[in-house]
Amino acid sequence: MDRDNDVFDIIEREKERQQTGLQLIASENFASPAVMEATGSVFTNKYSEGYPGKRYYGGNQVVDEVESIARDRVTALFGADHANVQPHSGANANLAAYLGLLETGDTVLGMSLDHGGHLTHGSPVNFSGRIYNFVSYGVTPSDERIDFDQMRDLAVEHKPKMIVAGATAYPRTIEPEPLRAIADEVGALLLFDAAHIAGLIAGGAHPNPMPHVDVMTFTTHKTLRGPRGGCILTKAEHAAAIDKAVFPGTQGGPLEHAVAAKAVAFREAADPSFKAYAAQIVANAAALAEALAKEGFRIVSGGTDNHLMLIDLRSFDEELTGKEAQLVLDDAAITLNKNTIPDDPRSPFVTSGLRIGTPAVTTQGMTEAEMPEIASLIGRALKERANPDAVAAVEKDVAELCGRFPVY
Ligand SMILES: Cc1ncc(COP(=O)(O)O)c(C=O)c1O
Repeated sequence: MDRDNDVFDIIEREKERQQTGLQLIASENFASPAVMEATGSVFTNKYSEGYPGKRYYGGNQVVDEVESIARDRVTALFGADHANVQPHSGANANLAAYLGLLETGDTVLGMSLDHGGHLTHGSPVNFSGRIYNFVSYGVTPSDERIDFDQMRDLAVEHKPKMIVAGATAYPRTIEPEPLRAIADEVGALLLFDAAHIAGLIAGGAHPNPMPHVDVMTFTTHKTLRGPRGGCILTKAEHAAAIDKAVFPGTQGGPLEHAVAAKAVAFREAADPSFKAYAAQIVANAAALAEALAKEGFRIVSGGTDNHLMLIDLRSFDEELTGKEAQLVLDDAAITLNKNTIPDDPRSPFVTSGLRIGTPAVTTQGMTEAEMPEIASLIGRALKERANPDAVAAVEKDVAELCGRFPVY
């Protein structure tokens, strides 16, 4: 058959978009050519329901090898007893972890969405909020950091079966020890959703929760820089329940091409160069937050310890919403997302904030030296948002900056 130009031309345009603009979405990254080669491999052809050594269909002797390598590499990387590398995504990983360890209607403590938690941590529009009785903790108004006193009080009051830690929009280190202490006090299971920070943990830039938790879920495509996908790590005692909950509980045939690519990414993350990468992500985020503060944006919680920052636009311009800022910056080829800030007076569709992350630009090779330039480009586009020529000029400067850091 002839080449499908309709689709492949679109793919080329997306490649161009990714490389000529600034990719500042905190949950995105540039996977390596090796990860993408594995993702595009013949494993996409194979059905392999079950697990290594226990498959439903024939012909899985080679698949077994790749899934076993992925499991071995990731358990070594995080010091876990057991890994399930089959979840198709982070949401699927959480779905399976809950199904494996909870009963319908059980009480669970999770971080409030408005304060940085994920949809799968109890949103009423998500399966989590519909099937389980989620109670939310949040951040302290004064310092915008997780309120462990509130978490403990809620835990004592509601006696949750599980505490879910981890976040989607929280710029500070989450220490695992105080979480474990609260979980132990009330006899709760502890699940750490490390979707955002898995790469920072693997690279030693953030504390590893695994020794302190029952289960750790994460996505493989954010700071970890692998293919799109999910993973669950468990203590030995939960291994069977979790495996059953992934398959046959919530998924059918695994995506073994993604599993192969996860294996490749786990090896990359174990390389000494990944330590330098993780440290650079954090250094870049700190430098960018500082430069953005100089542009007049208030940085939620006063800074960042990880790969992302939340900025409050109101100090820059009372009228400017996250929604408008995202659209203007899109026009300038600066890709990021609007985000609520703690106790945001505006709705989640409008918001008063932006979430900005450094994993992708760090993969490109940018360092602290480029962060003031990025902050200035953001400031310029937003200040001059009523002037399309000025926004186009920013877009040109963005392309020039990105041109100095080619990805593929
Ligand atoms: C904390 C957290 N958990 C789970 C997920 C869900 O991952 P996915 O989009 O792969 O389903 C995300 C994604 O942003 C996340 O930030």
